[in-house]
Amino acid sequence: MPVPQQLEPTRRTSDTDYYEIVQSPATVEIIPGLRTPIMGYNGTFPGPTIVQNPGRRVVVTHKNALSVPTVVHLHGGTTPDDSDGYPTDFVLPAQTYGTFPTMPAMPAMPGMPAMSDPDAVVTRMQRDYTYPPQPRAGTLWYHDHRMAFTGPSVYRGLAGFHIAHDTEEQALPLPRGARDVPLMIADRAFASDGSFMYPAIDPTMRTTPGVDKPWVNGVMGDVILVNGAPWPVMKVDTARYRFRILNASNARTYQLALQNSSQGFTQIGTDHGLLPAPLHQDTVVIAPAERFDVVVDFSGHKVGDEITLVNRLGSDSTAAVMHFVVARATKDSSSIPSTLSRTSPITPSGSMTRRTMKFHRGGQGEWLINDQAFDPSVSQADVPAGSTEIWTIISDFHHPFHIHNATVQVISRDGKAPGRYDQGWKDTVFVNKGEKVQLAIRFSDLKGRFVFHCHNLEHEDMAMMATFRIT
Ligand code: C2O
Ligand code: CU
Repeated sequence: MPVPQQLEPTRRTSDTDYYEIVQSPATVEIIPGLRTPIMGYNGTFPGPTIVQNPGRRVVVTHKNALSVPTVVHLHGGTTPDDSDGYPTDFVLPAQTYGTFPTMPAMPAMPGMPAMSDPDAVVTRMQRDYTYPPQPRAGTLWYHDHRMAFTGPSVYRGLAGFHIAHDTEEQALPLPRGARDVPLMIADRAFASDGSFMYPAIDPTMRTTPGVDKPWVNGVMGDVILVNGAPWPVMKVDTARYRFRILNASNARTYQLALQNSSQGFTQIGTDHGLLPAPLHQDTVVIAPAERFDVVVDFSGHKVGDEITLVNRLGSDSTAAVMHFVVARATKDSSSIPSTLSRTSPITPSGSMTRRTMKFHRGGQGEWLINDQAFDPSVSQADVPAGSTEIWTIISDFHHPFHIHNATVQVISRDGKAPGRYDQGWKDTVFVNKGEKVQLAIRFSDLKGRFVFHCHNLEHEDMAMMATFRIT
């Protein structure tokens, strides 16, 4: 199993690490014997991992060597608005084609008017993204966020890990080094020539956004990739491993379980870092863009044992994710402390502003929030910097709700206590069909224009996104 390589800074100053990434086309071998053209950060899929150490600012210079505009978003980041990757803040390629898009305009998608965004800040060929020291350790990730084309951009490879550490986490005896492993799970479909099969209306990603009719609920593939490899095998020692599981799929939700293992997972963290205390999970349900940080203990196994990570929501080829083979007997000095992190939960109070956001399908097959399609010129919520609000998300379908530059706690699901997978600080919350989920959202104190949206990328591209302002 490949593990994405950690990116080295090009330069360090007393408080900042500088990185450079070239977004470029490449051809890689994913299915043995076949060549797959990708769009990759530094030409790889996943992109290189950026590690942000406590107290350090990170600046990433992204260069666009592709033939389409791009936008980089640090998912889960606490980020100033000019570096957050607002969906029309394009980094244009060197060459444009026809009349599109020297202006941040989105061509009309079926059932919707064309839109332009006079407030967009567009650059050509490159841009610096600045990430201040992150408030908590966490498994963040960066990916493309171009208006109306995030689905095909991520599908073709524009996604990578960004791991933030803090001193509280570093003091714990958790597995580390080669036993702290990010797992990016993503499903893909392949044509017989090895190319990705993404059912875009416009495969050049230049004119009409959206996918062919049968795929408007979301694009799913029949091959499960982990860190870019199909159903990989990872050799492990008889020891504990920390796995930072990210579901980077466009639309597929997984229920992960371990086969041939009696112990399941010890969940230690979620989207925004460590839980207060470890939590046993027999299975983990993970929706697009969510992260679950788990420890799996292989010490009860013998060399030669094989453990399979399965997907109980899959069938046939999508029912297996990857395999672990116990290859070596070792001693292990790691442990899982009973207290992981000291954070105080949000207590909702009557003085907090309440809003309701209804996620639903429109009459033209587009996806809407409170009856509105994404429109950069309309803010659906102006929130005071650093404030906490109570939002109720109502859903007609299963939608992973995601919000930028804020941290979220689930208060209730359909009036009941939060579920098994709702613990901790999150930025993405799975909302089931017909459900009403109440969230406490604490906004960062960095002011500006941001978005919240469904993280089913086809829903997002087909307008299920809204602007909010931190004022
Ligand atoms: Cu992972 Cu707004 O995105
Ligand atoms: Cu959705």
